[in-house]
Amino acid sequence: MNKYILNLSRYLIILLASFFVISCSNDSAEGPYIIKFPHVTAPATPKGQAAQRFKELAEERFPGRVIVEVYPSSQLMNDDDSLEALAFGEIQMIAVSLSKFDRLTNAFQVFDLPFLFPNLQTIEKFQASPAGQSLLDELTDRGFKGLNFWHNGMKIFTATRALNEPGDASGLNFRIMESDVLQAQVQAIGGNPQKMALGEVYQALQTGAIDAQENTWANIYSAKFFEVQEFIMETNHGYVGYLVAVNPSFWNQLPEDLRIGLEQVMDEVSEWGNMRSEIINQEGKENVLEENRNQIIYPSSSQLALWQETMQPVWEEFADQIGTERLEAAKNINN
Ligand code: LMR
Repeated sequence: MNKYILNLSRYLIILLASFFVISCSNDSAEGPYIIKFPHVTAPATPKGQAAQRFKELAEERFPGRVIVEVYPSSQLMNDDDSLEALAFGEIQMIAVSLSKFDRLTNAFQVFDLPFLFPNLQTIEKFQASPAGQSLLDELTDRGFKGLNFWHNGMKIFTATRALNEPGDASGLNFRIMESDVLQAQVQAIGGNPQKMALGEVYQALQTGAIDAQENTWANIYSAKFFEVQEFIMETNHGYVGYLVAVNPSFWNQLPEDLRIGLEQVMDEVSEWGNMRSEIINQEGKENVLEENRNQIIYPSSSQLALWQETMQPVWEEFADQIGTERLEAAKNINN
């Protein structure tokens, strides 16, 4: 079955499921409303810290009316399963990497284009623009109401050998998130992409099932990938960020004051977390350097230009899917 037929059947199931959510989500008008919020990274990561802060502030402001249960480190489920669980109303909140919405929409592919955004500030500007804000509503009719974007940080490569230039990646097996753009990006540098959940990556690296992966400093430290990868290349070639989403049927049936209050808490937490994400990644980097187990490669500007040039065809390949207007808005964000 192709991706679109699969998506259509998934869509119909989600529509049906959303009818159940209102009746199942809370029996009593008094509450407390339970918000189950599973995610895949460690508590110390940008997402882990923001999720915990959302819990603390929400419960402090609405005592007895809301309980936020945060489940970090894939302990409840992986991201793929959480997309379905949210649409079915089994959980109430997610913060899933934008890359992993690829099976539901092409719109978020813009965030995966290599070297499109030079830093988090540019991404933040795009996310705050009309083109970026429209993405929050992109999946509402499919069971995902976007509340905010959260940053993790810029992606870098780790591998079993030094990747001084793209040609060095030839023949290596790369773990990637579930995204067709990332698949094309790895193919452009001659690697073999393998889509895999975060929770399986450490063991796959340890056993040699895969040779390389891309992630942020915060994730590389907290998931201990530095223990099983000798080389780290600070390419900053892409972005890891999240859509924080709730099930619209669940969210809309909350008492209005609670819903608006929780959205305010979410706005505050997003600002707080997005400001801290760079610091947390810097700390992750310092922690990895302190471990002194890796060879770190800081590519020169001419090496970076070569990485960029080699990955550039991916932009053209996905331009139509992403939409010219959206892509132009992202490209021009600094003009
Ligand atoms: C991943 O590699 O799957 C992660 O970047 C996802 C995450 O939530 O940070």
